[in-house]
Amino acid sequence: MLWAIFFATASAALTIYLITKVEYKYSELQYPGHLGGTDDLLDVNHLIKSKPDAPRVHLVEAWGQRWKRLRTIVSPQFSNNSLKRILPTINDSSRHLVAHLGKNLNKNEHINIHRYYQEYTMDVIARVAMGVKESRQWDSEYPEILRGIFDRNPREPFFLLACMMPFLKPILAPSFKWLAKVLRLPASRLFEQIESAVEERKTLRDQGIVTNDDFIDLFLDAEAQIDHKTEGALDRKDVHVNRKLTTDEVIAQCFVFLVAGFDTTANTLAYVSHFLTKNKDVQGRVREEIDQICTTEEITYEQLNELKYMDCVTKEGLRLHPLATIAVSRVAERDCEFAGVQIDKGTIIQVDAYSLQKSKEIWGEDAEDFVPERWMNATKEQHQAYLPFGGGPRMCVGSRLAYTEEKMALAQLLRKYELVDAEKPQETLDLRGAITISPLSVDVRIRSRPNSN
Ligand code: HEM
Repeated sequence: MLWAIFFATASAALTIYLITKVEYKYSELQYPGHLGGTDDLLDVNHLIKSKPDAPRVHLVEAWGQRWKRLRTIVSPQFSNNSLKRILPTINDSSRHLVAHLGKNLNKNEHINIHRYYQEYTMDVIARVAMGVKESRQWDSEYPEILRGIFDRNPREPFFLLACMMPFLKPILAPSFKWLAKVLRLPASRLFEQIESAVEERKTLRDQGIVTNDDFIDLFLDAEAQIDHKTEGALDRKDVHVNRKLTTDEVIAQCFVFLVAGFDTTANTLAYVSHFLTKNKDVQGRVREEIDQICTTEEITYEQLNELKYMDCVTKEGLRLHPLATIAVSRVAERDCEFAGVQIDKGTIIQVDAYSLQKSKEIWGEDAEDFVPERWMNATKEQHQAYLPFGGGPRMCVGSRLAYTEEKMALAQLLRKYELVDAEKPQETLDLRGAITISPLSVDVRIRSRPNSN
């Protein structure tokens, strides 16, 4: 029987859970990049892991052969070609973001820019995944529902109990799902919306009408009846991967993309904006780069790739605020030894990304400071110690989409406006969260830049 120890220090908003006998620090490994994924040694943390016979399973909770099948189907949606295809949508949503921010131009009162980014990231993912036709920033109920999912109290009894006593999960998970349905909690409301969108689309397709080119369509194309109960642990020799999904799996994947695509990227943009208001020289340098490279109204994929300094800025933001580290955990599928530490089968290994990404040993004396320039000559060890998107075969499938959205939003925003501190500047950000770590508010004011395009 396993017990988990759950620590939550509010000051750092850092959540670590580490199970049983070993006091294990991932930073002690020589190569943090060795973090595995679905193989015979490490698999998805059983706090997240789905039941083998569950019909509605998404990529984050899938394991073994089922994970491999789902990952094979969804990965092409995040390739360079797919991102280029959806770039006009991202361009359009970012212009709407800038227009909404522009309503606060040169006003004395500050705004919480995090909320604007939530509207933007939700807009992009709802258009790309669910085929929402036009930008619906500040006119969609999705952000509010999603906030309900993410703004959970880490001391919520179900959450806390499941973390502390993983063996109770078989009892807690179904009770929570039942309660969520009865009380119409946000996750269950979101499922209802996705169910009806998928059903609607199926009806149209049955009538021979194919209206969209989004994730729903793609997943429906891959639809079939699968006997997932027979899918077991991953056998690396088993090279054949079935490329089909069930309707329940279509719904589950849409759910996970809305959830994963909303909060993480909005948080990153909010953290970066905070740093940009505090570091005017960095903001100036980013703007210079944008002016040099993004010379057309419609920003291209190639131009985004050329924004090297902006790359450094977004990376540095995620280094200081890794925000989703709770997801970077694995369970040992058999007894093993790591860096001289004996790990028993069933032990959960939680990556301590906060320590790794702020270690003075790895990053130098200025490890706590926002210094984008460090990425220009980052060492191999620093790259290996940078894990905001996890690592190994289960690394975040949406990381490229996230970077594209971030760079597009910043490019459109900074070539028009300047971000400045609130009248009463925030010295530090208040952080909160259970699943991801978000700023309570990022207060900025919007100013026109002297030589705006
Ligand atoms: C800055 C933004 C983001 C951050 C920091 C982030 C972070 C993470 C992390 C830490 C993991 C766990 C990786 C591991 O276990 O090694 C993960 C997995 C995942 N992320 Fe992201 N994510 C971001 C954006 C996105 C976006 C935009 C999407 C999709 C729309 C997405 C979809 C997923 C999915 C589906 C997984 C599960 C992958 C698997 O298990 O195969 N993420 N993400």
